[in-house]
Amino acid sequence: VIERLAAGGDGVAHAADGRVVFVPFSAPGDRLRVRAVGPGARFLRARIVALLAPGPARTEPACPVFGRCGGCDWQHVAYAAQLETKREILRDALLRLGRVTLPGDVSIVPSPSPYGYRGRARVRVERGRVGFRLAGSRALCATSRCPVLAPALEAALADLAARPPGDDGEWELALAADGAARATPLGARERARRSRPGAPRAGAGAPLEQRVGEDRIGITPGVFAQANALLWEPLAEAVHTAAGGGALALELFAGAGFFTLGLARRFARVVAVESDAAAVRDLARNLRDAGRPNVEVRREPAERALERWRGTPPSVVVLDPPRGGLGAAGARALVRLGAGRVVHVSCDPATLARDAAVLTEAGYAVTSLRAFDLFPQTAHVEAVMVMERGGGGVGRVA
Ligand SMILES: C[S@@+](CC[C@H](N)C(=O)[O-])C[C@H]1O[C@@H](n2cnc3c(N)ncnc32)[C@H](O)[C@@H]1O
Repeated sequence: VIERLAAGGDGVAHAADGRVVFVPFSAPGDRLRVRAVGPGARFLRARIVALLAPGPARTEPACPVFGRCGGCDWQHVAYAAQLETKREILRDALLRLGRVTLPGDVSIVPSPSPYGYRGRARVRVERGRVGFRLAGSRALCATSRCPVLAPALEAALADLAARPPGDDGEWELALAADGAARATPLGARERARRSRPGAPRAGAGAPLEQRVGEDRIGITPGVFAQANALLWEPLAEAVHTAAGGGALALELFAGAGFFTLGLARRFARVVAVESDAAAVRDLARNLRDAGRPNVEVRREPAERALERWRGTPPSVVVLDPPRGGLGAAGARALVRLGAGRVVHVSCDPATLARDAAVLTEAGYAVTSLRAFDLFPQTAHVEAVMVMERGGGGVGRVA
């Protein structure tokens, strides 16, 4: 009997001998017959052989390749149960791994729609077949449907599958500013052409435009973009409000400027750090187009920017790192900076918790923690955590 869903998406049960059993594609309360797929001393992995009785949260997946495709974990779990589980995963990571004190309950902002939300996706083309990767494999899961895509993108996927390109490679499907879908090849040749300094970039596709409130953010294919088009505004708004305003903000992992343009309105000066050359070009162009000369763009690793920081500490540091988080050395350098407030945007509760542990040890306290469901039907959860300096260690559990 599945007791709960774990971070990563698998259901958790206990074997007769007490070992924990992880079961992909199971739901809380399911009674299942399972077969172990790998021996383990401390825990087992198992796959479902028969569903004996469904749990109360089990529901019908919308996608014909759900369970085979590696994209989604939870289409068989009702949306309300997905949200509750993500809240718990985030809370648990902060309490157990970060050992921090939370200021109250963790809230979660749902996706306005649990399907049809993705404004951007990468699709593979292999020998005339189109699709995503199979779960747990690098092989192709061919499909012409993907119901988590925005409807225009799902139509573009169906088009691509009906008339597959001759060359193998990756394609990016993205919503343009007018709501139409754009399909752009991201093949090795395209990537090489784009990365050559001064090379014409038309072949790589013109930048797409994200409209986030009053901001226009052009993003070249291949550069990171927030994927849930339905939550762009609430996410940006939450980060901007948490950052507040003042003399100087430092933004790490700035990308093409999803948060930067709003920060530039609120702070007299912003230093924005990003390591990817194409993202930095987008960021500089977006700032120029928006008439924001008060942002200094630095192309370097965030960790180095923190180490090399001299002068007045910023009043706020906003950071939005990839899955690995800031890391212990980066977090210690962040502490040395001495900013009054840190707004940490994270797509991985475990690495967020590790970063938070370093900051709490140094006297920061968590003053707010909210989850955003940017990826319904998957086990991924996004978090916006605010930490304030001067908590005097109150953020740490004894
Ligand atoms: C999760 S994305 C966030 C981007 C942006 N904040 C947004 O919302 O679109 C992380 C960004 O960090 C950049 N990045 C990855 N490692 C980095 C590093 N060590 N230093 C600086 N930037 C890095 C990536 O290129 C990417 O643009």
